[in-house]
Amino acid sequence: MRISVIGCGYLGAVHAACMAELGHDVVGLDVDEDKIAKLAAGVAPFHEPGFDAVLKRGVESGRLGFTTDPAAIADAEIHFIAVGTPQLSGRLGADMSYVAQAVRTIIEHAEPGTERPVLVAGKSTVPVGTAQLISDEFDGSGKNLVLAWNPEFLREGYAVKDTLHPDRIVYGLPDDVAKGEAAREVLNQCYATMLEAETPLVVANYPTAELVKVAANSFLATKISFINAMADLCDATGGDVTRLAEAIGYDDRIGPKFLQAGIGFGGGCLPKDIRAFMARAGELGVDEALTFLREVDTINLRRRDHAVRLAEEVVGGSLSGKKIAVLGITFKPDTDDLRDSPALDIASKLWAAGADLAIVDPAAGDKLRERRPDLRVPETLEEAVTDADAVMILTQWRDFVDLDPTSIRDLVAAPNIIDGRNVLDPKRWSDAGWNYYGMGRGVSI
Ligand code: UGA
Repeated sequence: MRISVIGCGYLGAVHAACMAELGHDVVGLDVDEDKIAKLAAGVAPFHEPGFDAVLKRGVESGRLGFTTDPAAIADAEIHFIAVGTPQLSGRLGADMSYVAQAVRTIIEHAEPGTERPVLVAGKSTVPVGTAQLISDEFDGSGKNLVLAWNPEFLREGYAVKDTLHPDRIVYGLPDDVAKGEAAREVLNQCYATMLEAETPLVVANYPTAELVKVAANSFLATKISFINAMADLCDATGGDVTRLAEAIGYDDRIGPKFLQAGIGFGGGCLPKDIRAFMARAGELGVDEALTFLREVDTINLRRRDHAVRLAEEVVGGSLSGKKIAVLGITFKPDTDDLRDSPALDIASKLWAAGADLAIVDPAAGDKLRERRPDLRVPETLEEAVTDADAVMILTQWRDFVDLDPTSIRDLVAAPNIIDGRNVLDPKRWSDAGWNYYGMGRGVSI
């Protein structure tokens, strides 16, 4: 099939490359010339395991192209909207201007459907109610465009795998039966390989499909804040939240995933999605339904202050002039994404409190140097930990999880290790002569 993908950020670029991998002819459109030049040359503009290979394969096969020219989308049979919906500055709601621009581009440049309607599939995370508004706009355009809402659930770090082998596919279809059937047929053709592999398919109306996405992210955020609240209880009582999570996770109804306590969630999705969801609930007059998400957000942000306070106590009460080595600055491992990174927020707070910081990260070092020239970002972990009064693991990159405690023991000024992600073995580190501090592991000071 001929496919266009509008918006070539994380979501769009990966989606475009994966659609080409499935055998479709794909053009990705974005206004960012640098990004498009890189993608068109088969070079990934961000760190994502496995993406380079599918991108290169797609570009070399001639099935995958990228452009800034909107006219190039004209003959696509499906247009995917994959632009960002970031948090509005100073407000809880989502910035919908990129979606509005994508809709205008499609109306202006898509060839009208003649034999069958041209499908537009929305992938961006939007406030519930958006799809109907876009659909109405298409109806008034005279171009025979039909909209489906087809949310995406990929995780950074697993984006290619999640796109090619999703847990489920969701179609949000128009109420009009004929249009709905037409949309379903085109989507079935697009996702034929995945459907043949018996990927569960959920077909619903627009609002349900829009809600599925934010409900899923809200549930994940709630799970994380729940376990972080339990971490506070463990700290107060001498419990160990990692054992607690393991024990409750054996219950199938709860499950073991997303119960890792630590410095909390960040990234370009969970934090802004729960805030936009609350804002939308307010507009719909059902804000009470989601007041619990405010607490989820508050618990999450409190983790960052907790980590700063812990560091302060570990180094003797004041951070001023204390050398702190921060290991990991991205919002999670296997990405170079710094958006709403708890690690970066904590580092900024430590720096503001006068700490002498040294930060290392396997993927985001250069980006951090560019963005925050005020922060010290040495090339090696050894340099970063030398003479440190405390070492803090804030992102659980494999290199840090596997770190041999004896290998850096003699480099530091004081053997204090703060495990912001609860990924180290406390006994192993204690046996090697370190003072170990986790997040809710019953070793309060
Ligand atoms: C999230 C969802 O997991 C995806 O399903 C969704 O498609 C995506 O948002 C999106 O809306 O586009 P992502 O932001 O890549 O994906 O990251 P997650 O793996 O969900 O992690 C989010 C944050 O939670 C990270 O900072 C991570 O360190 C933290 N986390 C995760 C915890 O603190 N504890 C856990 O147990 C799990």
